[in-house]
Amino acid sequence: MEELQNRMKTVLATSFAFYLKAHNYHWNVEGQNFPQYHTFFGDLYTEVFAAIDPIAEQIRVLDTYAPGSFSRFKEMSSIQDETNVPSGIMMAKKLMEDNEKVIQDLTFANTEAEKLKQIGLVNFLQNRIEIHKKHGWMLKSITKG
Ligand SMILES: [Fe+2]
Repeated sequence: MEELQNRMKTVLATSFAFYLKAHNYHWNVEGQNFPQYHTFFGDLYTEVFAAIDPIAEQIRVLDTYAPGSFSRFKEMSSIQDETNVPSGIMMAKKLMEDNEKVIQDLTFANTEAEKLKQIGLVNFLQNRIEIHKKHGWMLKSITKG
């Protein structure tokens, strides 16, 4: 159970870091395609932010505490923090790579949940994987030459 709890805490930290980066890019993107990027990053952060609370509540269902601080998130997230302002296309590329890390963390958690026959959680995680795969398709399409 401890392995699953830890995997889920990583899912929360990585998802939050991904959300924050998309929101950061929504605020700071510039250039010719500003409206498209601004709107796309806006939709992306909104979708991922809506998943943060359900992920944290799934952690509570596993009878452990949900991390909820910058220091803990930084410790556990698989995503590198963004402190610069890249170009729009670079923002999309970075999010595309980070999105793969989100999918990887979700997959690790899903494997543990399957081992422990946590069917509800398996269903939840597989749904998140499917949604992030769709985000990946869009990010890939944006960054294509
Ligand atoms: Fe906004």
